[in-house]
Amino acid sequence: MELDEDDRIAAVEDVPTDGTLLFTVRDGFDREEAVLTRLSDGSVQAFRNYCMHWTDVRLDKGSGATVRDGEIVCQKHGATFERDSGYCDFGPCEGSVLDRIDVAVADGDVYLADDDYEFEALGPSGEHDLSSGSRIDFTGT
Ligand code: FES
Repeated sequence: MELDEDDRIAAVEDVPTDGTLLFTVRDGFDREEAVLTRLSDGSVQAFRNYCMHWTDVRLDKGSGATVRDGEIVCQKHGATFERDSGYCDFGPCEGSVLDRIDVAVADGDVYLADDDYEFEALGPSGEHDLSSGSRIDFTGT
């Protein structure tokens, strides 16, 4: 696939090795969030920005997902995801795999290389309000 300047997401050096960089893609009329993360070998991976346990829970709420021992951690119930494969090796969704987005690195920049999406912008989609990630508790207490 030819890399287009419109698909340039960020410089590789701006992608954290101990966190994630949030960006937004377009899928038809929908805007979807995704995260970039850089591995110790310098390669970059991208995944859709939601947990496989509760898909309305964002891994990166705007300031980078938590990365511990090289794995992305969901803040809600502590599931951990391998950053190279997206595989969940611990937590309530153990065995599931984050939804990968194809990216490519060229000349020090990261490009979206996934025919299913178009790059929109760095940062959040703007479609989550401040209460995002919380659920109303109907315990009646
Ligand atoms: S929502 Fe992520 S572990 Fe439960």
